[in-house]
Amino acid sequence: MAILFDAEKKIFKLDTASSSYVFAVHDSGRLLHLYYGAYLPDCDMRYLLDRGYFGSFTPDAAGYVGKEFSPDTQPSEYSCNGTGDFRISALQIRNADGNIATDIRYVSHRILNEKPALPGMPSLRDENGDSETLEITTLDQTTNAEVKLYYTVYNDLPVMTRHAVVTNTSDRTMELERVFSACLDFNTMDYDMVHLYGKWAKERTVTERPLCHGIQSIQSKRGSSSHNHNPFVALKAHGATEENGEVYGVNLIYSGNFSIEAEVDCLNATRLLAGINPTDFTWRLEPNESFTAPEAVMVYTDRGLGEMSRIFHRTYMKHLIKSPWRDVERPVLINSWEAAYFDFDDNKLVAFAHEAAKMGVDMLVMDDGWFGHRKNDDSSLGDWYVNEKKLKGGLSSLIERVNAEGLKFGIWYEPEMISPDSDLYRAHPDWCLHVPNRENSPARLQYVLDMTRKDVRDNIFAQMYKVLSENKIDYVKWDFNRNLTEVGSALLPPERQKEVMHRFVLGTYDLMDRFVKAFPNILFENCSGGGGRFDAGMLYYSPQIWCSDNTDAIERLTIQFGTSMCYPISSFGAHVAARPRTSLKTRGNVAMCGTFGYELDPRKLTDDEKAEVKQQIADYRKYHCLVREGDFYRLVSPTENDFYCAWEFVSPDKQEAMMTAVVMRQPETRYCVQRLRGLDPKTYYQDEETGTVYSGAMLMNAGLNLTRDVYEDGTSVTKHFKAVK
Ligand code: GLA
Repeated sequence: MAILFDAEKKIFKLDTASSSYVFAVHDSGRLLHLYYGAYLPDCDMRYLLDRGYFGSFTPDAAGYVGKEFSPDTQPSEYSCNGTGDFRISALQIRNADGNIATDIRYVSHRILNEKPALPGMPSLRDENGDSETLEITTLDQTTNAEVKLYYTVYNDLPVMTRHAVVTNTSDRTMELERVFSACLDFNTMDYDMVHLYGKWAKERTVTERPLCHGIQSIQSKRGSSSHNHNPFVALKAHGATEENGEVYGVNLIYSGNFSIEAEVDCLNATRLLAGINPTDFTWRLEPNESFTAPEAVMVYTDRGLGEMSRIFHRTYMKHLIKSPWRDVERPVLINSWEAAYFDFDDNKLVAFAHEAAKMGVDMLVMDDGWFGHRKNDDSSLGDWYVNEKKLKGGLSSLIERVNAEGLKFGIWYEPEMISPDSDLYRAHPDWCLHVPNRENSPARLQYVLDMTRKDVRDNIFAQMYKVLSENKIDYVKWDFNRNLTEVGSALLPPERQKEVMHRFVLGTYDLMDRFVKAFPNILFENCSGGGGRFDAGMLYYSPQIWCSDNTDAIERLTIQFGTSMCYPISSFGAHVAARPRTSLKTRGNVAMCGTFGYELDPRKLTDDEKAEVKQQIADYRKYHCLVREGDFYRLVSPTENDFYCAWEFVSPDKQEAMMTAVVMRQPETRYCVQRLRGLDPKTYYQDEETGTVYSGAMLMNAGLNLTRDVYEDGTSVTKHFKAVK
């Protein structure tokens, strides 16, 4: 049994494959957190609740005068505001009386043999019956706010999910001001906070800092998860490494404004919250209405950051991504963006296809610039009909010609956007996000559609449906090239304007859901100026996301390493581009750590380069399973070593492995031995290229001598090993 309730002691114990999570119901009905960490057979850890009662002006809990029991010092399962817990609050409700005092108490619970879906939002699934869910109902007796807390534990993985649902069971309106998805209280501050920061073309750089007293947080208030911070944090015990030590990873399945906050209090204890960013957010709940907070995914391991990442990867491959493309060979595509930008017509695209076909490419993707009268980025978003001046003969004729070359066809869209210079804007100027009497701030010369409106979504759906259903289209790149400003909706009353940020995300999810259901076989790839919306919410709808607009192979190392903290490798859109800083071989090796494709004009390649591309594609056909299904090991991080970077894939049965090393800078010394990981020590592995046989123990302990392979900056080596008898 994964979820146990000791009715006498009123203690809940939730076990995953190798972790335990324990909390108690106090006599007062408060839910007090006891433990999260390595699997424990026991559950009664209430002795930990004696925290010395040494706060400052610590108030007694109402009804507990002189009993040394205070919300100020106790660990909470879901902290509330204004009733004695002065730390960051998971929940804050402005009630009908206008105050923000909130306090929830246990009412009842249920254990479900299923993983409930979240209405209108992406979440983990469980199609194999590998999970159990605890639903706890609590109530704020003063305001009649009912709060249900959900915890799902998976038996096959050390992973659990949390989310909360608030229902107004009173007869008056209330306003939610903070509704976090998860609240985690730890009894120490001895952790480093690992997170992913960045900007456009430099997304998801791994950074870490020790927790210190006070509040530290990462957030987005840009309307999307953003290039700047990713909704992922790991708390790693001081001294924990890639391979060893305790790590707690938290990731939100959410694509909008988020906040992950940690507070270290005067007892040196830490509280971590993850959820919707309370800044720019409130939600009005009328009687009988409910609000669902997005899902948080939590991983615990005592085997370092590397194992945490592998657990996230397996979880997302098995329980999050649904596309039929998840487990099969993805097409090698060539994308027109860096090859032509806006400067293409039907003949040029067919010429690309003609050359690409000879090298074994599977699909041509026509990127931005095919619709309305778009010649550059200043017009036509929202006018999703083909520009026949550019594509003479129309879309079907172009697709027929590309198909005749032996390639499938993909297309680019930016469905949530509108250009001021578009027929759509001229017909419906109020369809973009805007606020009364204030000029909109254009970004990339475009505005954002009001995705909270069903009529807007219906229009975009109808336009895109027509194109996708009337043409043989196998792939859609769904882009999102700006953030949200002047966030207001013409249809919502003033008191609901602070709901727009979240309603926008729900609107986008609704539109995506309609498309993946209407076109289950289309391969969707998300994108946002590169990787500005690379999050688990988007992975629910599309198995791959364009990782970054930065296609330089050396820069990509840092971006792809950071992305691998939490997201599966087969979800990284990664292409070989015409960026000659590194060799074609290195660009191929780096793109192989992802979905693999090309982003260049194939007509400009020399004969030698064409032969090399052909070989790269043949290699991709050989190794795509290993990359998609294998366990990923970050061997040498590009931010911690200034000479080279290395990674490795190992097949789940440990019969196959692939290691890649890329030289980033001219080394001072050439002697280089790299240890591999994750192999079976007793199995013998043969280097496919040289025929040399090594035991797994040798490769993992003595290492592989790369001295002759990594010597000049921009060069790289890939070693492929297969088990031999
Ligand atoms: C974004 C994407 C690019 C390309 C352009 C087109 O920047 O990341 O790959 O599609 O938009 O405008």
